[in-house]
Amino acid sequence: MKFRKYSFKLNNKPIVVEAPPAYTLLEVLRNILDLTGTKDGCSKGECGACTVLINDRAINSCLTIMEQVEGTDIITVEGLAKDPVADKVRRAFVQEGAVQCGYCTPGLIMASKALLAKSPNPSVDETKEALRGNLCRCTGYAKILRAVLKARR
Ligand code: FES
Ligand code: FES
Repeated sequence: MKFRKYSFKLNNKPIVVEAPPAYTLLEVLRNILDLTGTKDGCSKGECGACTVLINDRAINSCLTIMEQVEGTDIITVEGLAKDPVADKVRRAFVQEGAVQCGYCTPGLIMASKALLAKSPNPSVDETKEALRGNLCRCTGYAKILRAVLKARR
C-alpha cells in the first residue's frame, strides 16, 4: 500500500501523519493514531458518531478523505477533555439521562460544541438543526435536546 504524508493540526498540536490516500480521517484517527473516542457507527455519513471539528465546523470524519485534511485544524473529542463548554455539555447529558450506551455521545458532544461556539444561546430550532445529523438508538431525542439546551449560556 502506498502512503503519503499529511500535515495538519490535531487537538491544537501540529502533526504529520503517513497514511494511504484512500483512508478517511476516521480511519486515520482510530487505526493509525489510536484516538478511538471518535466512533464508527455507519461509515457512510448517516449517524454522526464520527463527528469531529474541522476548522470549527462539525464534520463526519468517515466522509472526509485525507486530501481534505491537509492544513486544517482538527479537534476530536479527546481534544475537548478540558474544554469548559464541552464539560458543561457532558454534565448536562448525565443530569438529563441523555447517555445510555454512550456510542453516540462523542459525536453529540462535538456537534454541541460546534453549535455553542458559534451561537452560545441557540434557540430550540437552531439546536435541533445542529443535532439533526446525529442519531441515537437508546435515549430518545428529548433528553439529548434538553441536555444541550441546559448547557447554553
Ligand atoms: S460513522 Fe460517520 S456518519 Fe456514521
Ligand atoms: S446512547 Fe446509545 S446510541 Fe445514543
